Amino acid sequence: MLASGRGSNLQALLDAITAGALDARVVGVFSDRAGAPALARARDAGIPALALSPRDHPSRDAFDIALFDAVEATAPDLIICAGYMRLLGDAVVAPRSARMVNIHPSLLPDFKGLHTHRQALAAGATRHGASVHFVTADLDGGPVIAQAEVPVFAGDDEATLSARVLEREHPLLVETVRLLAQGRIALGDGGVSFDGRVLHAPLQLAANNRFA
Ligand code: GAR
Repeated sequence: MLASGRGSNLQALLDAITAGALDARVVGVFSDRAGAPALARARDAGIPALALSPRDHPSRDAFDIALFDAVEATAPDLIICAGYMRLLGDAVVAPRSARMVNIHPSLLPDFKGLHTHRQALAAGATRHGASVHFVTADLDGGPVIAQAEVPVFAGDDEATLSARVLEREHPLLVETVRLLAQGRIALGDGGVSFDGRVLHAPLQLAANNRFA
């Protein structure tokens, strides 16, 4: 897993694994920030955690290569970006698209990039949420696997809206990783497939945390 900050999505996966609700193993947590609480969460769980500083590398590409050398040394089946806030270059992304996913706090393709809750409020959106998508060279533009939707209420601000979305991010990530770990989701030429059939729209996480 790649994380730059708080690590609540990482924690959600770790908690699901500990509870026996998710058959998976986190083999390493990697960050571009040594102080990221996500690293502490990993270490508390006995998981190898490594921070690499972009400043120690001569270029973005050199940093990316060093980062993915470390990632691949743990031989992951799946690479999960969960609040990893640094752009990744095409050279490291393209060969890994089919086994690298990201969680993004909006209903993609709406509100790519940063400050998604602010963007949603400014646009007058009445629905918002989070997406898990395969990572491609197109920033926040890779094929979407699954989404969780929340309402936007009059009177919402960034804090209330982001809290409502985050509460749904956690089950969304756990349930999507479950399908990925079971080999039920794949990225192919036709897009995302689920149980061998091409998805024409992202899976939607229902209130009972099952996919509709
Ligand atoms: C989450 O809301 C995640 O969707 C977002 O950062 C937060 C990380 O929280 N990711 C992005 O904005 C990526 N563009 P966490 O560190 O508590 O999991």
